[in-house]
Amino acid sequence: MEKDKVMIVALHDKPDLIEDCAKILNEEWPRSKTARMRTIENSNPNLPISLLLIKNTQQNKDEVVGHAKISRLPLVPGTCLIESVLVNPVNRGKGFGKLLMEECEKLATQFGFSWAILSTHDKQEFYRKLGYEFCQPVCQYGAPPSSASHLLETTQPNKTSETVSKTAPCEESVLKTKTAFAQPPPLPEFTNISVPAKKVYMKKSLKQ
Ligand SMILES: CC(C)(COP(=O)(O)OP(=O)(O)OC[C@H]1O[C@@H](n2cnc3c(N)ncnc32)[C@H](O)[C@@H]1OP(=O)(O)O)[C@@H](O)C(=O)NCCC(=O)NCCS
Repeated sequence: MEKDKVMIVALHDKPDLIEDCAKILNEEWPRSKTARMRTIENSNPNLPISLLLIKNTQQNKDEVVGHAKISRLPLVPGTCLIESVLVNPVNRGKGFGKLLMEECEKLATQFGFSWAILSTHDKQEFYRKLGYEFCQPVCQYGAPPSSASHLLETTQPNKTSETVSKTAPCEESVLKTKTAFAQPPPLPEFTNISVPAKKVYMKKSLKQ
């Protein structure tokens, strides 16, 4: 599909762009080039499919500016997994992420999927605006953590971003304890320590 000067194509239809695709993914989520290439090389017409958002530059060259991958979830029939959704930094905030997601969902519907599932650490709001809601964790590989029928249950969001404000844990008891021994120096105070956000899962019905 085409919108303005941007196009969305399947990676296996544009094998010449595989290195550029690996590059933008690795700039966001660093990994060895070999491992990255091995993953995205799997793109094929029967899934998984890596979709590329490409721009035609003034030099008439295709520039990869975004990526998203759709895979089957064999343990949850009728459901696909959308992952590695990325728009490169200079092109964010222009509606391209939304466009990529809409294209993923359109393609997933063509494959007959009724649900799309994804996980995220900190982009809940982006996905919520696109109609996703929180659900149970889903295992992509191996056995699911619970019976598959529970996997698409709607859940409350986990606490996604925690800021821990800590004082030295032993401070109070140290003050209260009267002892003949010399007291150790006070522990440093830790304030506003950011704990990485927890991964949450989100789902969307693809049925109109
Ligand atoms: C998440 C990402 C794909 C969004 O792409 P984008 O092109 O900037 O998003 P869009 O411009 O299409 O935004 C669509 C809507 O989502 C909102 N949005 C986008 N990113 C958001 C964010 N981080 N938090 C809250 N809202 C966000 C936009 O404001 C816009 O809202 P509107 O429809 O009300 O105007 C992009 O920021 C990105 O690649 N981030 C780094 C990789 C990443 O974290 N990917 C997600 C992995 S789970």
